[in-house]
Amino acid sequence: MNAAIRAAARTAIERGIDVYGVRCGFSGLIQGDFVPLTARAVGGIIELGGTILESARCPEFCDKHTRKVGRAQLRDHGIDGLIVIGGNGTQQGAYALSTEGVPVVGVASTIDNDLVGSDITIGADTAVNTALEAIDRLRTTAKSHRRVFIVETMGRDSGYLALVSGLAGGAEVVVTPECDLSPPDVRELLEEAKRRGKRHAIVVVAEGARNDAQTLFNFLCENTDSELKPRLTVLGHMQRGGRPTAFDRLLATRLAAKAASLLISGNPGCLVGLLNDVATPTPLADIAGVIKPLSRELLDLLDTMKL
Ligand code: F6P
Repeated sequence: MNAAIRAAARTAIERGIDVYGVRCGFSGLIQGDFVPLTARAVGGIIELGGTILESARCPEFCDKHTRKVGRAQLRDHGIDGLIVIGGNGTQQGAYALSTEGVPVVGVASTIDNDLVGSDITIGADTAVNTALEAIDRLRTTAKSHRRVFIVETMGRDSGYLALVSGLAGGAEVVVTPECDLSPPDVRELLEEAKRRGKRHAIVVVAEGARNDAQTLFNFLCENTDSELKPRLTVLGHMQRGGRPTAFDRLLATRLAAKAASLLISGNPGCLVGLLNDVATPTPLADIAGVIKPLSRELLDLLDTMKL
């Protein structure tokens, strides 16, 4: 997100426009918590995770009366347009504001990678690589001790992080909300893997799966012989921290620069995402509240690769 803030600010500054950052997302917007973003103020942040502007969940923003306060803050501060960096919930707020007359351009940013309008969203690559490093490290013990490890990834209702880190990490089983497996199904897959000669296994479970990692862990502890007794690692917010990958920095720079250009040229009401390797606007009306499905190709690959 810092790379996106930097790119949006510098694109606008280069065109002679004053830029302000809104601290703490929509909750800062309704409080008028704005800070000037000069070219220097956004220097030295591209390598930092998170956001220098800080962030906050703001469920009140679903209420039109609250949004009215936000619109008044923009007007009172002489702000003509808004760039909104965030995922699904955030872009729904952006869409609502845009239907109420605020010139808004969204930037597709969430580790969950569940936004339609972008093949990949800012943060997802870094989160996948963090999960992957954990999986690689856990495999060391899994191998040496001939154990089963369950690893829970984030992703809210999307299985993207679990699927992609599982595929890249060579997981034996991946459980996602989109492709759910019951605990007995997972036990069966682990027993099959054992019969095929595997002596250890990694099971990656998305936090949004109906049978979550803890349920699976409890089931396997109680209903398997000692060889399949698992260990459980919940990655949690680890996946949202640390240095962003080069891919994410470049993606954020491209998407946010395009968002600023669209806003400046009078073309708001859209979300900028990466489609076929091009920073591309999609109307906010088409993306708000729509969840991107998991790639069938990747799901199919999983079936073959687990052999
Ligand atoms: O949407 C991004 C995300 O990191 C999800 O993967 C996760 O479920 C959620 O946010 C965690 O939110 P919070 O930090 O508010 O608990």
